Amino acid sequence: MSSSAPAVLPTDLGARNRLLVDKHAAYIKSFSRMWETQDKLEFVATEHFWMSGMYWGLSAMYLMGRLGDMDTDAILAWVMRCQHPCGGFGGSERNDPHLLYTLSAVQILALYDRLDDVDGDKVASYVASLQQADGSFVGDEWGEVDTRFTYCALLCLSILGRTSAINVPAALDFIARCKNFDGGFGCTPGNESHAGQVFTCIGALSLADALHLVDRDLFCWWLCERQTKTGGLNGRPEKLQDVCYSWWCLSCLSILGRLHWIDRDALTRFILDCQDEEDGGISDRPDDMADVYHTFFGIAGLSLMGYPGLAAIDPAWALPAEVVARIKGRNAAAAEQQQQQQLTEEEVVPGKEEEAR
Ligand code: FPP
Ligand code: ZN
Repeated sequence: MSSSAPAVLPTDLGARNRLLVDKHAAYIKSFSRMWETQDKLEFVATEHFWMSGMYWGLSAMYLMGRLGDMDTDAILAWVMRCQHPCGGFGGSERNDPHLLYTLSAVQILALYDRLDDVDGDKVASYVASLQQADGSFVGDEWGEVDTRFTYCALLCLSILGRTSAINVPAALDFIARCKNFDGGFGCTPGNESHAGQVFTCIGALSLADALHLVDRDLFCWWLCERQTKTGGLNGRPEKLQDVCYSWWCLSCLSILGRLHWIDRDALTRFILDCQDEEDGGISDRPDDMADVYHTFFGIAGLSLMGYPGLAAIDPAWALPAEVVARIKGRNAAAAEQQQQQQLTEEEVVPGKEEEAR
């Protein structure tokens, strides 16, 4: 738990003393046009995770109030072209379906309020097909088990209002088995705690209303220990600070009501110092090359800390709070409609029997 500003914090951030919204918006827009440049090396090297790249970019734009700058129609048409007959989505048109990219696709549709564009039952059946007998999830047909995939499954189905498609208690039991002596979680039982994995576990437990499985104080102490003298957070003891952990750690602290346990001013300055003031974008550490992943997680971290002008992000759903409120409203209305329909059917059936007599 640090309260004073760490000694090695930059004192003069120059142009980076505030969030460079216009620069980042231009940077993300140029990333989203990658498919127009299929001959470029960056295209080939990043194509397999494009769907997540698009989700990171669009979410960052939403938080900065700049979603309107993006080419909605082209993006949505591309997302739908990445869906496979099984219901899952690939990272790009040429990639096989994977749970990670299926979640990203559903998140993109949610950002644009276009969830009706997909057959929710079909996507849910793809997600359910990846659950294993011990409650864990694999990401695709190749069978790697990881708590990341449990989170992806739960979030995807929560967005679609279809968590009943999977065995939630078994999924939670698997997460509980990944818990370590330090209060953190690993990717499978017995694996060391890692801030990225702990986010997926805390996020999943929060979505399933099962946070009683967390040792709050012990675990939040471990999270606070992630802040280094630079103000930035790392993912494990003895590792370097990295902007993306501003999200992986902070989201957990926020879910568990302990955001005030770290030095937020120091972290804000660290994130701002990782901005590319010329070409836009945010990097993992000051003066490294910016990328859309760290741009989103840096902005998302700032949003969690209430940075002025940014929309609020929901720490468990990893989507803007307004979008989550809309999803919850949509799912509640659908559940009510389904209940009404069931009641009507129950009323109609005895009537029909009478008619038949
Ligand atoms: C660190 O990755 C991060 C993780 C292990 C968590 C990843 C979580 C998901 C993909 C689930 C979906 C997430 C959201 C927000 C919707 P890393 O390999 O970069 O870690 P390193 O920098 O320590 O190597
Ligand atoms: Zn990182």
